[in-house]
Amino acid sequence: MTNIKEKLEELEKEALKRIGGVVSVPGLETIRVKYLGRKGELTSFLRSLYKFTEAEKKVLGKKANELKSRLEEDIENKKNILLKGSVQGKIEEEWIDVTEPGIKMPLGTLHPVTKLMFEVKDIFKSMGYEIAQGLEVEDDYHSFDALNIPPEHPARDAWDTFYLTNGLLMRPHTSPVQIRVMENRKPPLRVLAPGRVYRYEAEDATHLSVFHQIEGFVVDNNVSFSDLKGTLSSVMKSIFGKDVKLRFRPSFFPFTEPSAEVDISCVMCGGNGCRSCGEDGWLEMLGAGMIHPQVFRNVGYDPEKVSGFAFGMGAERIAMLKYRIDDIREFMKADIRFLEQF
Ligand code: PHE
Repeated sequence: MTNIKEKLEELEKEALKRIGGVVSVPGLETIRVKYLGRKGELTSFLRSLYKFTEAEKKVLGKKANELKSRLEEDIENKKNILLKGSVQGKIEEEWIDVTEPGIKMPLGTLHPVTKLMFEVKDIFKSMGYEIAQGLEVEDDYHSFDALNIPPEHPARDAWDTFYLTNGLLMRPHTSPVQIRVMENRKPPLRVLAPGRVYRYEAEDATHLSVFHQIEGFVVDNNVSFSDLKGTLSSVMKSIFGKDVKLRFRPSFFPFTEPSAEVDISCVMCGGNGCRSCGEDGWLEMLGAGMIHPQVFRNVGYDPEKVSGFAFGMGAERIAMLKYRIDDIREFMKADIRFLEQF
């Protein structure tokens, strides 16, 4: 009897020690089965109680049943602790309040000139133009000679050019892209060539030495000056609104004949005259004209068979008028307060 009591105490000690040390729910289940399962040690003991005398049964039975409850309780508690450490613990640890307002990520904006160029590109794409890129480092031939500006031609002075030590130059306009495209392709062509250009020039409120031009040209059979007028008129209306008017003034470029300087009615005063347009009512917008026969010959086209128009405009100038900016140097300052307005 004392022996059996001791055994029971031994069993209790051992079981409690195991429950205390177990670290996983399946491990705990193994312990439960070992003691309390159908063939478990404590279950077997309880089943064998019939062998004892009534008096012994009373004492041992009470003790064994108390132990059973104690183990069941401890296992249950331990189970809760272990579960909390795994699932419940994780849930609590990783809880997020989905109703909490998020942290706003600062979002950049497009540079106004980039934005303007995207817009102009889209307008021309919708008219069936393709976008072409040329080279920013160019040669004399494509920048001047092929455009009918031979070496000693006085018009070369109009493009104050940065020359590199290797004889190449930074292109002072996007017109060389006309040559590069025509050299490699046959008409019909409808091309828009936006890009950066460089001029050796002092900077002021209306001049930068690095800026952007948007060049465009069309070559086909029977392209006429009225096609040029219609195209530029509809593009300017898309950019500045349908009330804008265009004025073509005779001008000169060696690579176009006839040539024109194109003005739009002042976007600030609507043409009545104000400070922005110098009381004139008109703003100079772009250069344009019919592609010169000599330019066609230079790229191997027959000027008797094809005709075309070309135009070039300053992207910063358009952006200044569209976004009402009065100093072109703002575009180059990288001042976040200026840039984030667009
Ligand atoms: N390339 C000329 C300039 O930079 C603009 C222009 C382009 C004029 C195409 C006529 C035709 O001033």
